[in-house]
Amino acid sequence: NLLDERPRDLQGKHVVVSAGGTREYLDPVRFLGNRSSGLQGYALAEAAIARGATVTVVSANVALPDPAGAEIVRVVSTEDMRREVLSAAADADAVVMAAAPADFRPAERVDAKIKKTPDGTTPDIQLVENPDILAELVRTRPEKKPMIVGFAAETGDDRGSVLDHARAKLERKGCDLLVVNDVSGERVFGQADSEVVILGADGTEAPVPHGPKLSVAHAVWDAVVDRLGQ
Ligand code: CTP
Ligand code: CA
Repeated sequence: NLLDERPRDLQGKHVVVSAGGTREYLDPVRFLGNRSSGLQGYALAEAAIARGATVTVVSANVALPDPAGAEIVRVVSTEDMRREVLSAAADADAVVMAAAPADFRPAERVDAKIKKTPDGTTPDIQLVENPDILAELVRTRPEKKPMIVGFAAETGDDRGSVLDHARAKLERKGCDLLVVNDVSGERVFGQADSEVVILGADGTEAPVPHGPKLSVAHAVWDAVVDRLGQ
């Protein structure tokens, strides 16, 4: 099995992987969340451990067994994730943002459960934008270290294809690699398999064939290892 015989080409490297989906609470029982399962993030951690890395996983609301041998830091919200990722990134060689941080949070979180009213008025929930962790990592890193990898779930539309949107996002975010998922239909969320294209800031475009998320994970580390050497 090819997956069992990986070179220990991440030996001596510290990598940080974010996984899962953040939650933004409105009250003690309700939150805004998303469909990220954490499967891809945990597969990235498992693959990096197999290749010899020291791995920190910043894990948001993931209901999966912990990857053996990784340090797991549990978080709930995007702000929590921001704090923990930035802190772990300070001594990392690579950071892979496989998580889906909520883009918005309720402007306020109330301490008491929001109740229905007898007259049927619905609550008016104001949202504010969350910090962009990936963009902040790029903006604040000294000398291009750590290497920064983003993930993007995209759909094609009348303004462009999945890859058009992804290339624009890579440029906007300024990261080194962007792993692109086509999420039209039910192809990715919670599934064991995935199919991605890895875009490089250097203009490269590497399609990864449909397969287990562990194979996708190894393809991502292959791309990272190629560039860490330079
Ligand atoms: N990301 C992040 N912080 C956020 C939102 C996203 O670090 N607040 C990271 C994700 O982990 C992912 C990458 O940015 O690696 C791209 O996420 P995506 O949601 O596709 O990008 P957005 O800039 O939020 O754009 P969109 O409006 O398409 O959601
Ligand atoms: Ca987003």
